[in-house]
Amino acid sequence: MTSRPVTYADYLKIEGLLGLQAPKSTETGMPAHDEMLFIVTHQAHELWFKQVLHELGSVVRMFSESIVDEKNMGVCVSRLQRVTDIQKLLIDHIRVLETMTPLDFLEFRDLLSPASGFQSVQFRKIELTLGLQGGERFGCPTSPYVQALAASEVKDVLATAETPSLFVLVEKWLERTPFLDVEGYTFWKSYRFAVSGRIADDARAIESHPLLSPENKARQLQEIENTSRSFEALFDESVHASLVKEGHRRLSLRATHAALFINLYRDQPILHMPFRLLTLLVDIDELLQTWRAQHALMVHRMIGIKVGTGGSMGYPYLKSTVERFRVFNDFLSLSTFLIPRSALPELPPELKSRLAFAFNLS
Ligand code: HEM
Repeated sequence: MTSRPVTYADYLKIEGLLGLQAPKSTETGMPAHDEMLFIVTHQAHELWFKQVLHELGSVVRMFSESIVDEKNMGVCVSRLQRVTDIQKLLIDHIRVLETMTPLDFLEFRDLLSPASGFQSVQFRKIELTLGLQGGERFGCPTSPYVQALAASEVKDVLATAETPSLFVLVEKWLERTPFLDVEGYTFWKSYRFAVSGRIADDARAIESHPLLSPENKARQLQEIENTSRSFEALFDESVHASLVKEGHRRLSLRATHAALFINLYRDQPILHMPFRLLTLLVDIDELLQTWRAQHALMVHRMIGIKVGTGGSMGYPYLKSTVERFRVFNDFLSLSTFLIPRSALPELPPELKSRLAFAFNLS
């Protein structure tokens, strides 16, 4: 039996795919031209969300191993890079949808109610896979995000919530970083010494400055005192614990030290990939924030300050999520604690050679 060669349409299931756009306004006999754009933009988002989950899921699996294989680091980095490229594309999708005018949207908006973006299962799964915490989404603690979903969807979303997120897995991986305490070298002690030296130098420079008034000196010395205290939180387990409790930090102290080490000594060959990975997590967070901001602006433009079809306050609610819903904030905040390369303590030669790639001629 000879099988028919595969065709473009068969392979991609084009007929099914193109049969999935069913504008409600057409059903009512008063077709609204822009409803097609509205549907296609949402569907395109959902397809890309599927791809994002595919990429994130594979990274989560590789990071779920008790030891993350170094060989997989490059793969993880390129998949996370791909996620950021998709995110950029999605921000542009919103620009395309914005070619619809608010008046044209009104032609069919009532037909959608009470359907809402709150019901995007894949969007919730992306948030949870990354590690977004907090069950409430609608600005009201009694409204968990699953409330908007059907029972079968709740099960699916809660299964993702119960799986260790990328945040948790990366934190564990960082905590296992072997280079922080080796052969008489403790990273945080040497780093603390360097930082205290810099702070003392800065204070001396202010005290002896001939042009500063006593008030200016006092103000600047106070600034230095504040910086010094924020550095102290890096070295004191109990201060760190209270920052975590108050919601200012999330990453464990050990993982924070490791992330700092990677950031400071990123020029060491073995730290290149870990550094890129941490940077990409910050990129993903930032792009998700940009999407949220762009979506919120579009909503403002389309419906002003009317409430959403999902029952939220609409624009004010969405705007508030831009700042609140960040996952990898601790990695972003690390910049506060960076010191210039010239002030970095030298690594012990033994450790330096372990951080370099070895080339064995024998
Ligand atoms: C005319 C265009 C759009 C309008 C007016 C709009 C409106 C809204 C509103 C008001 C909300 C808040 C929930 C509610 O009360 O319903 C929301 C949430 C949401 N929308 Fe849109 N939306 C539009 C386009 C899109 C597109 C193209 C997507 C792509 C999938 C999308 C995805 C979402 C998601 C995922 C949420 C939940 C966000 C969160 O809870 O943080 N929306 N939308």
